[in-house]
Amino acid sequence: MSTVLITGASGGIGYELAKLFARDHHNLVLVARSGDKLAQVAAELRAQNVTVRTIVLDLASPPAPKFLFDQMQTEGITIDVLINNAGFGAFGEFAQMSNEEIFGQIQLNITALTELTRLFLPPMLASHSGRIMNVASTAGFQPGPLMAVYYATKAYVISLSEALANEVRKSGVTVTCFCPGATHTGFAKRAGNDKSRLFQQLGAMNVEKVALDGYRAVMEGHTLAISGAHNWLVAQSTRFAPRKVVTAISRWITEPTR
Ligand SMILES: NC(=O)c1ccc[n+]([C@@H]2O[C@H](COP(=O)([O-])OP(=O)(O)OC[C@H]3O[C@@H](n4cnc5c(N)ncnc54)[C@H](OP(=O)(O)O)[C@@H]3O)[C@@H](O)[C@H]2O)c1
Repeated sequence: MSTVLITGASGGIGYELAKLFARDHHNLVLVARSGDKLAQVAAELRAQNVTVRTIVLDLASPPAPKFLFDQMQTEGITIDVLINNAGFGAFGEFAQMSNEEIFGQIQLNITALTELTRLFLPPMLASHSGRIMNVASTAGFQPGPLMAVYYATKAYVISLSEALANEVRKSGVTVTCFCPGATHTGFAKRAGNDKSRLFQQLGAMNVEKVALDGYRAVMEGHTLAISGAHNWLVAQSTRFAPRKVVTAISRWITEPTR
């Protein structure tokens, strides 16, 4: 039985991924800040006869990734699949945004993800097996006025993941970058973009469907997977349109409907 570590598993896409891994008899290590929610998720998933270890941790705190890795070593838990899912966005103009929101996004979406990958990848390479999935976003394919830092963090995740997938291609380890588009979870409320045209008018995907796409992508070892045919089309179109136009459209969909 393999063991899967999922960050941000107390809700949203991470929780749905945890359910899919439990269904297919993978043991789980689940990480998030909300201990009560994690305990509930763990109790639910243990009914599938898998072991579930929960770790209550704020991954935006700089020592957290190393603490998590050391904890796994101490407990003798080998991680076969790492899902870097925890992330958040913040809506607003960059100049008005608090340092906490700006650097918190960079710390969680970029630094923690990079450090966890850096820590867990070498043991996977040594055993010639393992899977890493980094959850980016379709936001990573273009600049995002009014959510500039979030979009930029996701561009980083796509770039890093595709490069690493290439570096490890002959190793038995796979690196997958998974890009959901707008999805019904707690994300938009925390980001403050739940009133955007994107969420109000263009529509968000069902979280179970999105998680299933991510689950298939990591288990099949795809390098880049975009959830939803419409999201795939939008991601392709940004490659051919003038960048100023792409950026203007990106702003328009992020603006509130009223
Ligand atoms: N929903 C969307 O529209 C959408 C679209 C594209 C990409 N994504 C990406 O998908 C991933 C999952 O998002 P989601 O939609 O499932 O959001 P969500 O419903 O807000 O869930 C986020 C998860 O991350 C955890 N988390 C947040 N901050 C954390 C921290 N500092 N340390 C540890 N855990 C933390 C949350 O748990 P706690 O609050 O308990 O810590 C929760 O379990 C994110 O990387 C997001 O950027 C989402």
